[in-house]
Amino acid sequence: MNVAVIGTGHVGLMTCVSMAAVGHRVVGCDADRGKIAQLSAGVLPIFEPGLAELLAEQTAAGRLSFVEETADAVADAEVVFICVGTPPRVDGEADLVAVESAAREVARHVRRSSIIVEKSTVPAGTAGRVRTVVRRELSGRAGEISVVSNPEFLREGRAVEDSLHPERILVGAEEAEAFATMREVYRPFTEAGALLIETDIATAELAKHACNAFLALKISFANALARMCERAGADVVSVTHVMGTDPRIGPDFLRAGLGYGGYCFPKDVQAFERLAARLGYAFPLLGEVARINEEAVEAAVEKLRDALWNLTDKRIALLGLAFKPETDDIRFSPALALAERLLAERASVVGFDPQAMANAKTEVPELELATDAYAACEGADCVVLCTEWPELLTLDLERLRSAVAYPVIFDARNALDADVLAAAGFEVLSMGRPHVAASPTERSAVGASRLERRGA
Ligand code: UGA
Repeated sequence: MNVAVIGTGHVGLMTCVSMAAVGHRVVGCDADRGKIAQLSAGVLPIFEPGLAELLAEQTAAGRLSFVEETADAVADAEVVFICVGTPPRVDGEADLVAVESAAREVARHVRRSSIIVEKSTVPAGTAGRVRTVVRRELSGRAGEISVVSNPEFLREGRAVEDSLHPERILVGAEEAEAFATMREVYRPFTEAGALLIETDIATAELAKHACNAFLALKISFANALARMCERAGADVVSVTHVMGTDPRIGPDFLRAGLGYGGYCFPKDVQAFERLAARLGYAFPLLGEVARINEEAVEAAVEKLRDALWNLTDKRIALLGLAFKPETDDIRFSPALALAERLLAERASVVGFDPQAMANAKTEVPELELATDAYAACEGADCVVLCTEWPELLTLDLERLRSAVAYPVIFDARNALDADVLAAAGFEVLSMGRPHVAASPTERSAVGASRLERRGA
């Protein structure tokens, strides 16, 4: 089929490559001409494992190309995916200006009987707005254009796998023909085992927001538990492990730490609460989810203050700056929120991240950057693991020990093995777990070790 994709951010790019990978002819388009020039030259504007290879493969096969003009992108399209950004406004609602202008442009140029698919995360009711915009553009002209909601569930850092092998595909539509076309678009995926869920449009739009808000709720629940465990002398990793063995709860998204970040959870939780209010329903639980998330960074600052006394002039090394591993995305990154808080306390903050350093520097220019993890830890009063990149979990402890000024590690993601660290001479702080004192007598038995947490 002929597919057009408007917007080449994370969701748009993954839609381009995955649709091409299953044999559709795809044209991608973006208002940012620089991005289109980059993509046409095979250069990726973001880091995502496996994406560069897939992009090169699909463009070389002639199934994927990029153009500057929406008119050119949609000229032959049977299905047009709108994947433009929906950033948060100051009042917390999603800004839908880009969605409206993309819908208008598409309606002006697309063939009749095509389908416009809303894939950006939008509040319930947006597809209805898009339909009105489209109908106004079409007035007096023959033919109909269906509007469909098809929210995306991919995760950054695992986006290639999630896009090529989605567990579920959600399609909200009103017309039987629109469902039929969407079944055809996704047939290669459903034949490979993906579950296709068909609903009305309002349900699909609401379901996407509900999923993100509920996952954020699980994380905040774990973080609130961490605060309780600290006061009770319990271990949040074990508590959430016990909870996760109940199949009604499940083990995922219960990792306590610095809290959630990225371009989805923080803005979606806020936008969902605003939507509820606009619909006349107060949903203060969502405000609490956001508050507990912010509290996690504050709890980290307090722990550092407790461990180091005055933060002024203390050298603190932050390992991992991206909002999660395997991405260069620093939007709403808890690591950078912590960096800013520590800088405000006049600490000297040095960071390292395998992919996100350039973005981090743009966001927090006062942050000093190091060439690798060991250089970041040179002379540090405390090392903080902020993002659990695999390579940061396997550092050589002897080397780390000789780099730091004082052997204090704060595992703000509960991703390390505190016993191994303590045996290597480190004092270990975590989130919601008992403080572990250094026990260097066992050090000889440890040597250069993997730091990863065992069990649970
Ligand atoms: C999230 C959802 O997981 C996707 O299903 C959804 O499609 C996407 O948002 C979106 O709406 O576009 P993403 O933001 O890429 O995906 O990343 P997640 O893996 O969900 O992690 C979000 C944040 O939560 C990260 O900062 C991560 O470190 C944090 N997190 C996650 C925790 O603090 N604890 C956990 O147990 C899990």
